[in-house]
Amino acid sequence: MAASVGRICKTALLKSPHVPTIKQVCSLSTSTREWTRGRKAFLGTIGMLAGGTGALLFALDRSVRASDLELHPPEHVWSHTGLFSSLDHASVRRGYEVYKQVCAACHSMRFIAYRNLVGVSHTEEEAKAEAEEQMITDGPDDQGNMYKRPGKLSDYFPSPYPNEEAARAANNGAYPPDLSYIVSARHGGEDYIFALLTGYCDAPAGVVLREGQYFNPYFPGGAISMAQALYNEAMEYSDGTPATASQLAKDVSTFLKWTAEPEHDDRKKMLIKSIGIFTFLIVLTYYVKRVKFAPLKTRKIEYRPKEK
Ligand code: HEC
Repeated sequence: MAASVGRICKTALLKSPHVPTIKQVCSLSTSTREWTRGRKAFLGTIGMLAGGTGALLFALDRSVRASDLELHPPEHVWSHTGLFSSLDHASVRRGYEVYKQVCAACHSMRFIAYRNLVGVSHTEEEAKAEAEEQMITDGPDDQGNMYKRPGKLSDYFPSPYPNEEAARAANNGAYPPDLSYIVSARHGGEDYIFALLTGYCDAPAGVVLREGQYFNPYFPGGAISMAQALYNEAMEYSDGTPATASQLAKDVSTFLKWTAEPEHDDRKKMLIKSIGIFTFLIVLTYYVKRVKFAPLKTRKIEYRPKEK
């Protein structure tokens, strides 16, 4: 206490020969309370307990996940991995073809509309043509009946099944999840999707799979109800890219990254803009601060008690 009072008041003491009431001058700035030993010990114990519990939970979590039959997806360097890298839009377009020709047989994509493709992977005419290929249920008409019509840009991707029960019935009881946001919904994101699609292998000895299940070491638990969907030359790309299984998986993963995060490119563009704007603002703020504070900092304060 005494030391800090001395330090804080040194200037005042030096500058003024009359220091009638040190306490009065300094009482404003010495509000820090000293911690008792008991309080310190109590807080220390709480801190150690919290740290210990955290470490224990982490270890437990690891031990529950660790299994010699389950793999973490390897991290790949995607063309959009960098801080300033946009999505590869040719790949998004090919990925759409893969989704449409393979995955759409079982998986819905309810949150993406044909208009979303415009300017991303397709021109407006191409997106219109894609939509018109689909027959969409609309209605009711003036007779009260639902009817089918060719799709429009404003239509969302049609679902392969009318409801979840129908989807389960067709897939041995397993529900193929909607793929719109799957990249954000799974740990590992597009790395996981890629690993899952290319990771099918024979079940190791001792693993019993029920009917309609397949072994995939990247799927939690290993037994997945989705058969391997991608094979070499499973389809053809319209741009002539050789359709190997890994190429198909990479493109559909990039496409799913886009559907999960359509704002991806704008977000990174915004980063570039904000770096520019904030650099300017920080320099300006620093300059203004120096200008405004210069007279304050060089000012000399004298304390002159009133003459009695
Ligand atoms: C024959 C139908 C069928 C096709 C075709 C199909 N899937 Fe699946 N998919 C399923 C089923 C069924 C499940 C649920 C599996 C489970 O829960 O065990 C599933 C699950 C998934 C999952 C979720 C896995 C998880 O972690 O929960 C992803 C991702 C996936 N599929 C992606 C795809 C992609 C991408 C394609 C196209 C290349 C595709 N699927 C093609 C039937 C299919």
